[in-house]
Amino acid sequence: MKNTSELDKSGISDLAIYVNIPFCNSKCHFCHYVADIDSRNLVGQHNWYSEYVEAIKRQILHYLPQLTSDGHQINSIYFGGGTPTALSTEQLIDILQVIESNSKPSLHFGSVTLETTPENAPHHDFRALLDAGFNRISMGVQSMDNNRLRMIGRSHCVEQVQKAIEIFWDAGFTNVNIDMMFGMPSESKEEISHNLEKLVALAGNHYSIYLYEPDPRTVMAKRCESSYTTEDLYSKFDLVLNYMENAGYEGYNCFYYANDNSRCDCDDIYYNLGNDWIGFGAGAHSLLQQCLYRTSSDYKHFIATPLTIGSPIPARENAIYLYMTSTYLLYSDKGLNLNQFERMLGISYQDALAMSKELQLWHEHLTTEGNLVLEGGHWRFRNREDQIRYICHHMERRFKHDILKSQQFAQPYAPLSSK
Ligand SMILES: C[S@@+](CC[C@H](N)C(=O)[O-])C[C@H]1O[C@@H](n2cnc3c(N)ncnc32)[C@H](O)[C@@H]1O
Ligand code: SF4
Repeated sequence: MKNTSELDKSGISDLAIYVNIPFCNSKCHFCHYVADIDSRNLVGQHNWYSEYVEAIKRQILHYLPQLTSDGHQINSIYFGGGTPTALSTEQLIDILQVIESNSKPSLHFGSVTLETTPENAPHHDFRALLDAGFNRISMGVQSMDNNRLRMIGRSHCVEQVQKAIEIFWDAGFTNVNIDMMFGMPSESKEEISHNLEKLVALAGNHYSIYLYEPDPRTVMAKRCESSYTTEDLYSKFDLVLNYMENAGYEGYNCFYYANDNSRCDCDDIYYNLGNDWIGFGAGAHSLLQQCLYRTSSDYKHFIATPLTIGSPIPARENAIYLYMTSTYLLYSDKGLNLNQFERMLGISYQDALAMSKELQLWHEHLTTEGNLVLEGGHWRFRNREDQIRYICHHMERRFKHDILKSQQFAQPYAPLSSK
C-alpha cells in the first residue's frame, strides 16, 4: 500500500470494507465463488475456521488503523463469501468488533451486511448479531422450487427459507435481501413466474434477482446448450422486471428490487465507483488510491501470511479490470461518470477505451447504434430496454466464448435482430 502521506492527495475519504469468508456447507453446481477450495475441506473443518478468523483479525489490525487515521470514513461493511455464517456467531462478532474498535474516530457506517444461507440461519443468534452491529442480512435462496434446488446442488429446501426469514424478523432485523437466479438450464417462464409469486409472498424488502451466468469452472454451465440466447434471456428478464414492478418493487441497477428505502449503499462499491474499498481475507480484492490488490485465494496460504493484501497494480494498467468496471458502470442507473472514473482509476475513459480492445468494440458498437448516450458528463444507456437487452446479449457472447468456445471474445457485436 502507498504510504499514508500519499493517501490525502487524492481527496478520497470514504472506505468500504469487504470481509471474505470462503467456506460453504456444500458446493452449488452453478457457483464459482469458492471453486478454489478443495471440496474435501468444505465441511466441518472448524480448526481451519478459527485459524482463518485469527488471520483476518491480524490483517485488519495491520491495515485499518493506517487507513482510518488518514481520515478515511468507513461507509459500509460487507461480510460475504462463500458463506460467512459457516463461522459461528461468536467468530463473526469477534471480527466485526476488531473492525469497529480500529475504526474510531472515523466510524460512519451505513449498512453492515451479513450473507447467509437458509440452512445456516437456525444455528445462529441473530439478536446477538444485530446487537453487535450487523444491520442487514442477505440470504441466498436461488429458487422457490424444491426440484430445482436439488438439481442445482443447494443444501436447503423451500420450507427452510420461510423459517429463516422468521428468525431474522424475530431477532429485529428490518433490512433483509434475498438472492434469486433466473435463466437457468431448462427453466421455463412458468417456473420463473411461480418462483416470483412465492418469493414476493415472503415479503422481503429487497431482492437481488440475478440472471444466471454460466461459468466454465462449474458443472451446470455444460447443461445450457443452445437455449441460452439473447432473445430467450430477454423475454425472461422482461418477465421478472414487470412482475416485480407490478408487485410494488422498484427495479434499479438491473438486478435489484427495493420496496421502501432499502436500496443498498454497498452496491455502490461497484455501481457508483464512489469510494475506495479494502477486502480482508483469502481471495479478497481491494481498490486503494487507484491501485488494485488481491490476496491469495488459497486460504491455507492466507492463514500463513495474513499481513498482506497483495502487491499494488495500477488500475489504469489492467485492461480486464477497466473493461469489467466500465461495463458494470454502464449497466447501472447512474451510468459512467467520466470525472469519477478518472479520479478513482487514474485513467480517463477515453484512454481506457484504447487500453481494452473489447471495451472499444463494445463502446463503438453501442454508440454507433445510438444505444449509449453522453449526458452531463455521464455515459449511459438511452433506455432500460436497451440496457437489459445488451446484458442478455453480453451473456450470450460470454457463453459462446467461454462454454461453447465457438466465438472469439474480441469480435464485433452483431446488431440485435429484434430492435
Ligand atoms: C457469493 S454468493 C453467496 C451467497 C450464499 N453463499 C448463498 O449461496 O446463499 C452470492 C450470490 O451470487 C449469485 N450467484 C452465484 N453464482 C452465480 C451465477 N453463476 N450466476 C448468477 N448468479 C450467481 C447467487 O444468487 C448467490 O446467492
Ligand atoms: S452459491 Fe453460496 S453456498 Fe453455494 S457454493 Fe456459492 S457461495 Fe457457496
